Amino acid sequence: MERRPIRTWDLPVRLLHLLLAGGVAAAWLSSQDARDLRVHVVAGLLVGLVLVLRAAWGLWGTEHARWAAFRVPWRAVRDHARGLLRGDAPRFQGHNPLATWAMLGGLSLLALVVLTGIGVQAGEEGTGLLAGRLDRDRGVALHGPHELLAWAVLGWLLLHLAGVAKESLRTAENLPLSMVHGRKRPEPGARPVPARVGAALSMLAVVALACAGPLRPDAEPAPAAVAPPALDPLYARECGDCHEAWHPSLLPARSWLLLMATQDDHFGEDLGLAPALAGQLQELLVLHAAELSPTEAAWRVARGTPPDQSPLRVTDTPAWREAHADLPEETFQSEPVRSRNRCEACHEDAATGAFAHRGIHPPDPGLPADPPPPEAP
Ligand code: HEC
Ligand code: HEC
Repeated sequence: MERRPIRTWDLPVRLLHLLLAGGVAAAWLSSQDARDLRVHVVAGLLVGLVLVLRAAWGLWGTEHARWAAFRVPWRAVRDHARGLLRGDAPRFQGHNPLATWAMLGGLSLLALVVLTGIGVQAGEEGTGLLAGRLDRDRGVALHGPHELLAWAVLGWLLLHLAGVAKESLRTAENLPLSMVHGRKRPEPGARPVPARVGAALSMLAVVALACAGPLRPDAEPAPAAVAPPALDPLYARECGDCHEAWHPSLLPARSWLLLMATQDDHFGEDLGLAPALAGQLQELLVLHAAELSPTEAAWRVARGTPPDQSPLRVTDTPAWREAHADLPEETFQSEPVRSRNRCEACHEDAATGAFAHRGIHPPDPGLPADPPPPEAP
């Protein structure tokens, strides 16, 4: 006789599962574009918060949510896997042994992604929970592992979905749906768990408070360390006449020295600067060159330019090329921009040298200017 499904997953388990899925999806979708960094950070911290709440719920939660239920020896996992291959594996009211290990693995991977993410944020941006505790080198060194772990999460997710699908077919039960309404067909002797609505509401309140306060996307304070000195008026006047006065922090000092040494043949122009003025400008440029500036953009220029190279163009530095590698050529050709070195057209803070993520507003390249090729007769 088929008995009616009983509540197996309490409300907090289902709520946290939903929030985790949403947080991971949001973090993935916001990971590609630097302009979405704030969303990405919020999503990552949300995932971290959910992991903490889930870990706590392992202490106080109902039967199948408890850490005690996750203490599954390897032998049980192996036996279950063999049973699956033979086709006689038993059904479990909560997670089966294989699923238990998979879940613990997935949660650990996510925890590592969050931790490395916080490290990257501290090192590269100078913001977040570990701000000031990691230098740029360490933060950048964590970037690779952070991405690798994120890919591992994606791989794990595919396995997770495949496992859920397989188990749903095997036990003739809609398991994704059971993670929504919480009910599963009872095994003999299984008893329903309480809903724990109060605990779920408290968790929701914690998440809501976090999102209204520290997790608010615009809550991140502007770090004092990355505010470069204002552009010197003398430099802005003398070097901002024919083109925008690129911030001195965009090239290494040796590039500026070379540029000033060749001022009589400056991209085809003779600047004709009097020696005293040229000396003054050179001093300003070198004083605020990439090596001596606190911004992330300057750091990348200084670190990324091989010591035997002295590029004369900002757009020739490896850092610049890397930052814009994904932008289509049309974006640079489009009307208000027209040239790669018109930084101001896309970066509202170009004159300050900050080049913050939130100041990037490239124009929409729109439709290609070329008419479609004529159809073959
Ligand atoms: C008489 C006009 C003129 C003045 C004044 C001038 N430049 Fe230029 N500069 C040019 C031209 C022309 C180019 C080439 C622009 C291009 O290819 O888009 C150029 C290019 C540059 C570039 C390379 C930009 C890139 O593509 O990344 C730098 C850097 C630069 N100038 C720095 C300076 C500095 C520093 C001063 C002041 C000492 C200065 N310029 C003054 C005309 C001028
Ligand atoms: C056509 C618009 C456009 C122009 C022109 C442009 N940029 Fe950018 N820049 C962008 C976009 C978009 C990004 C973000 C790319 C991404 O993350 O995929 C970016 C990223 C950057 C970054 C990295 C920002 C970060 O935090 O990741 C720096 C630094 C930067 N640009 C500097 C410059 C400088 C210097 C110039 C001028 C020599 C310039 N850009 C010209 C559009 C532009």
